[in-house]
Order: sequence, then structure tokens, then C-alpha cells
Amino acid sequence: MIIEFRNVTISRGGVSALEDVSWTFDSEKTPSVAILGANGAGKSTFLEAILGLRPLTSGQILVDEMPVGKGHLTQIRRRVGLVFQNSDDQLFSQTVREDVSFGPTHMELDSEEVKRRVDEALEKMGIVTLAERSVSTLSGGEKRRAALAGVLAMHPEAVLLDEPTSMLDPRGCRELAEYLNTLEMMKLVATHDLLFATRVCPFCLILKDGKIHASGLTEDLLKDETLLMETGLA
Ligand SMILES: Nc1ncnc2c1ncn2[C@@H]1O[C@H](COP(=O)(O)OP(=O)(O)OP(=O)(O)O)[C@@H](O)[C@H]1O
Ligand SMILES: [Mg+2]
Repeated sequence: MIIEFRNVTISRGGVSALEDVSWTFDSEKTPSVAILGANGAGKSTFLEAILGLRPLTSGQILVDEMPVGKGHLTQIRRRVGLVFQNSDDQLFSQTVREDVSFGPTHMELDSEEVKRRVDEALEKMGIVTLAERSVSTLSGGEKRRAALAGVLAMHPEAVLLDEPTSMLDPRGCRELAEYLNTLEMMKLVATHDLLFATRVCPFCLILKDGKIHASGLTEDLLKDETLLMETGLA
């Protein structure tokens, strides 16, 4: 899959959340990329724009040459999954199982396959015992796991993860990293969790004030103290 930003600017509330951003993600070359940056740097806006959730002020985003916008959104959202920064934006069904089943149920799969995927996702996210629980009774980390399970059960070609480890305990972070590393899909991960970034994403972009300030091997950039200081990462 290729996701291409061409001179993308997104103004939000008088601020340029993204300013003239151009970048190409190619799953063949950099299948797993961390999007790093301080609070307000534009990470969530960056990921949400790929699914057409943030109107572009100017520029264009293309997913496998399909411009993000009316006419392609259904197809793009079927192929690209997003786990929101706030799990409450994601979860809306009564029980955890219903929530995790929602995406796969709407994908023309037979019911056996839906059940197989849902069981696998619940197991991988460590929430089998919560399957029949009401979503509203879950802890923050449990909600996070349910939201991740729902998107991963769709087996998207690309997954956009916005702060996937926020609220997860250290073991949950490690296990999520290990699981993601077994999945052959494109992964774009917005995170403040630099250890998680190094575990999952060999390549990273660092955003600052809505612009790409640096890009390169995660291991190398995260050793650069000056860069970390000037981009709010240390
Ligand atoms: N609804 C909104 N109205 C006005 N400005 C907004 C809105 N949402 C976001 N912004 C602004 O857009 C900019 C980018 O926000 P964004 O949420 O993309 O940052 P982020 O890098 O994800 O930050 P964080 O690390 O806190 O999640 C910020 O300056 C933010 O204040
Ligand atoms: Mg964010």
C-alpha cells in the first residue's frame, strides 16, 4: 500500500495543525513508521486525515492513488483501520464481544470467520474474560485493548494507531509490540512511548508545529539529544 501526502495543510481553530506536509509511506519500503512529536504537534490530525476525518485546507492525500474524499472513503476505511487516541470515540456497542465483532460483521464474511477473528483478537489483546462485559464498565486500559481488538479483527491492510499504549500496563505494551511485529500489515503509530516506537517501528517521522521536522531510523533519531529537546521528546 502507498499512502501519499501532497502539500497537505489542515487549519484547525486558526492554527495550522498540519502545514504543507509532503510524505510517501510505502509498505514495501517502510512498513512500520512511528509518528512522534510533542503535544499538539499534529500527530492525531495526521492519522485522522488519512481516513477523511479532517478536511484538508489545501493539498491532497492519496491511498493507493485514490484521493481521500467523497467517492473513495468507504473503500479506504475498509482497507485502513484507525485506533483512536480516545477509546471512548471508538467503542459504542453494549458488550465487548459485540464491539469487537462490529467491523468484521460488516465485511461480507461468514459468521464462522467473524467468530474466529473476534476470538483471536480477544485472545491476543488479553480480554477473553471480558467478552460479555458491558463496555461502560471497563477500565481505561481494558477499553484500549477492546478498541485495538476491534480494529485488528478487521485484518486491515494498514493500521493507524494513535497512542496505542496509553493506559496499557508495561506487560500489555510489550505484548502489543510483540503481536504487532507478527502482523504483516502497514503500521503508522503516533506515540509518546519511545520504547514502544523502537520496538515496533524501525523508521520514524518527528512532527513539530504541524511540519515534518526530522525523519530517519528510529534508533538513530532517538539518540540525538538536541533533536529530542527541540521537538519536545525529552
Ligand atoms: N477541534 C479543534 N479545534 C481547534 N484546534 C484543534 C482542534 N483539535 C486539534 N486542534 C489543534 O490542532 C493541533 C494539532 O492537534 P493534534 O491533536 O493533531 O496534536 P497531537 O500531536 O495529536 O497531540 P497529542 O500529543 O496531545 O495527542 C493542536 O494545536 C491542537 O490544539
Ligand atoms: Mg494526538
